[in-house]
Amino acid sequence: MATIYCSFTYSAGLLFLLLLFSPAGSASADIVPQTITAHVTETVVLPCRITVDGEFPTVEWSKEGLKENITLLYRDGCETFGMKNPAFHYRTNLLLNKLKDGNISQIIYNLRVSDGGRYHCRTRREKQWQVHAVIILKVGAMPEPKLTVVPSSAGGGVTLECKAECWFPEPDITFHDDEGNEITAEKPTRGPNSTECFTVTRRAVVQTPINSHRVTCRVHQRKLNQTKKTEIYIPENVITN
Ligand SMILES: *[C@@H]1O[C@H](CO)[C@@H](O)[C@H](O)[C@H]1NC(C)=O
Ligand SMILES: *[C@@H]1O[C@H](CO)[C@@H](O)[C@H](O)[C@H]1NC(C)=O
Ligand SMILES: *[C@@H]1O[C@H](CO)[C@@H](O)[C@H](O)[C@H]1NC(C)=O
Ligand SMILES: *[C@@H]1O[C@H](CO)[C@@H](O)[C@H](O)[C@H]1NC(C)=O
Repeated sequence: MATIYCSFTYSAGLLFLLLLFSPAGSASADIVPQTITAHVTETVVLPCRITVDGEFPTVEWSKEGLKENITLLYRDGCETFGMKNPAFHYRTNLLLNKLKDGNISQIIYNLRVSDGGRYHCRTRREKQWQVHAVIILKVGAMPEPKLTVVPSSAGGGVTLECKAECWFPEPDITFHDDEGNEITAEKPTRGPNSTECFTVTRRAVVQTPINSHRVTCRVHQRKLNQTKKTEIYIPENVITN
């Protein structure tokens, strides 16, 4: 059996002072949720802080709406894996060297879109649970959009297609010329969607002769206020065909 290095020590110096301020058991309803935004594959820290007085409590992070809702359980100086939701195996941790300061923030590694949701941070002392933080995690996915020239049956002009595949939340697509002016485009088509993300495709016909050989597709995510751009250079021979 390997030794598990998970115990730690902390100062109990403030025990008596802090006992005076021990809050009564609180429900999650009293807590103002905090929103955190991050992207797929990133590492995020969900903040939570307690006052450490005497014995270190059991720390539990859970996520609303999951059948097995525990994402991290820390008890008697060790993480307890038995009840952890398998989707979070090897992906959550505490800042172990910060526990003594009462920093019981949860780290989530390698974020997935499905990690988005509401998390509760709570502790248990003497059979009494107390919620300390409610965090709304929003996970965005914004892979590079693809911009291509597609064959078009109608004469005149070059048809460009820009595809934002598997984005979350759903983005908007616009086309722009060299000078940043928006180019008129067709109505976007939405889908196929998955439970995790949205795909949006939009086409624009660039009329010939054109004054801009470089066209930019701009994919914008309004809720996260973030944009990805991709450019295409339309060669002369395509235009004159
Ligand atoms: C916990 O510690 C981390 C790392 O030092 C820090 O970034 C974060 O702000 C702390 N959070 C709280 C709630 O104290
Ligand atoms: C997780 O489940 C437990 C037991 O059913 C419940 O007390 C707790 O509030 C749940 N957590 C969240 C975040 O919903
Ligand atoms: C994809 O989701 C969008 C936005 O919710 C919806 O408008 C569209 O109809 C969906 N497309 C498909 C194919 O499910
Ligand atoms: C969105 O972000 C841009 C810069 O990245 C900023 O100038 C703009 O004010 C932001 N808009 C909103 C609504 O937050």
